[in-house]
Amino acid sequence: MKKYDTPLLDELEKGPWPSFVTEIKKAAQKHEAAADELGQLEKSYKTKRGYWKHGGIVGVLGYGGGVIGRYSNLPDEFPGVAHFHTVRINQPSGFYYKSDSLREILDLWDKYGSGLTNMHGSTGDMVMLGCKTEALEPFFAEISSRGWDLGGSGSALRTPSCCMGASKCEWSNIDTMNLANTLTQAYQDELHRPMWPYKFKFKIAGCAVDCVASIARADCSIIGTWRGDIQIDQGEVENYAKQGMDIKAEIVDMCPTGCMSYESKLEINNAECSRCMHCIAKMTKALGPGPEKGASILIGSKAPIVVGSLLSWVVVPFMKMEPPYEEFKDLADKMIEWWDDNAKPRERIGELIEAKGMRPFLEAIGVEAQPQQVYEPRKDPFFFWKDEDLG
Ligand code: HEM
Ligand code: HEM
Ligand code: SF4
Ligand code: SF4
Repeated sequence: MKKYDTPLLDELEKGPWPSFVTEIKKAAQKHEAAADELGQLEKSYKTKRGYWKHGGIVGVLGYGGGVIGRYSNLPDEFPGVAHFHTVRINQPSGFYYKSDSLREILDLWDKYGSGLTNMHGSTGDMVMLGCKTEALEPFFAEISSRGWDLGGSGSALRTPSCCMGASKCEWSNIDTMNLANTLTQAYQDELHRPMWPYKFKFKIAGCAVDCVASIARADCSIIGTWRGDIQIDQGEVENYAKQGMDIKAEIVDMCPTGCMSYESKLEINNAECSRCMHCIAKMTKALGPGPEKGASILIGSKAPIVVGSLLSWVVVPFMKMEPPYEEFKDLADKMIEWWDDNAKPRERIGELIEAKGMRPFLEAIGVEAQPQQVYEPRKDPFFFWKDEDLG
């Protein structure tokens, strides 16, 4: 059933790419919400104005987060989107689903919502778009009875997310999926009941390739790394050379720390290596991470809402990451407590450290100042020494 003419949106179906317009049109055959979403969006394109009201408090009983309230400014013209709330559902670690569990959740969303989803949102959750207020409780009752739960939103811990790690990737230095699940379970209260100055995100990558972009998107990034020497198979290095790889140009000269050389064989000055993964990712068969596995803990990244964007920087260069992760949880609790005690509303932990400096932060979490805590190459993270430190 076609409810509106949408000449401007139709333009976005042209070309070789998948189109969200085509997908919303499919959903519109079954759902008035999706049909009216198209109508309202076409109007926005025509008038160059947005017609969504800002925010609104909605949720389900017992939870402070997980639902993001959305209302149309034109409820009489587009009644199907009068309420159009977003529901976040906590994704499984590493985004693994059985096809019947995906069908289950999508069937339920056809039953209670607009049929529109985003897999996955930037936080990692399954994002169900377009729920009427009165459908929230019944939808939640049904998904939770089948073992699903809401994710985080608002000033809460956001749903932890991770790369698929050791389940598929030989480079993973830690069990990312187990850690994401452990943190999700350990911080249930903080996830569902916003009580902090603003959002806080954990993202976990198995290595510095950082497939979850934790370094740009997480207040606390946990990135797998190693101690000891990069494993080298010189025979495989030769094979790469024989197959036409220019090892000097593609590997040695691209090493950011200049710690590699290649004459008759490949040599690495491991004391200088920053474990960036470039060489290992390029010469998969010849090189591998060193023997002792763990993670670097970084702090502070965020996107530019209040002030500019930040990338995470190192706080703890190496920490063992094995169940039950007590050392990490203890550190995370201290970081969050310091931030919670000191931040203004809507101030992220990275911004607070910029405002107050690394010294009070490091003192509060009981971590020594270390040379690895560089903010970017050749800059220390604004650390001001006390007189007695210099003595
Ligand atoms: C009333 C209209 C809407 C407004 C004002 C709005 C605004 C927002 C805001 C502010 C967030 C972030 C919330 C947070 O992080 O605390 C968000 C999340 C999101 N919205 Fe909307 N949105 C609206 C409708 C839609 C529609 C129509 C779509 C797509 C068709 C959409 C897709 C998403 C997705 C994918 C997320 C990310 C969820 C996640 O990463 O967990 N939203 N929206
Ligand atoms: C110049 C263009 C844009 C800017 C400056 C911008 C900026 C931002 C910022 C600052 C955030 C918050 C991120 C965070 O704190 O985690 C955000 C989130 C988001 N943006 Fe954009 N955005 C732009 C374009 C878009 C477009 C074109 C879309 C979709 C078609 C989009 C969809 C989203 C969604 C869904 C989120 C929610 C992520 C989450 O919190 O889970 N953005 N955007
Ligand atoms: S971040 Fe590293 S360990 Fe995780 S999937 Fe990517 S390459 Fe593999
Ligand atoms: S991991 Fe990065 S820094 Fe270390 S040797 Fe390889 S390219 Fe150089």
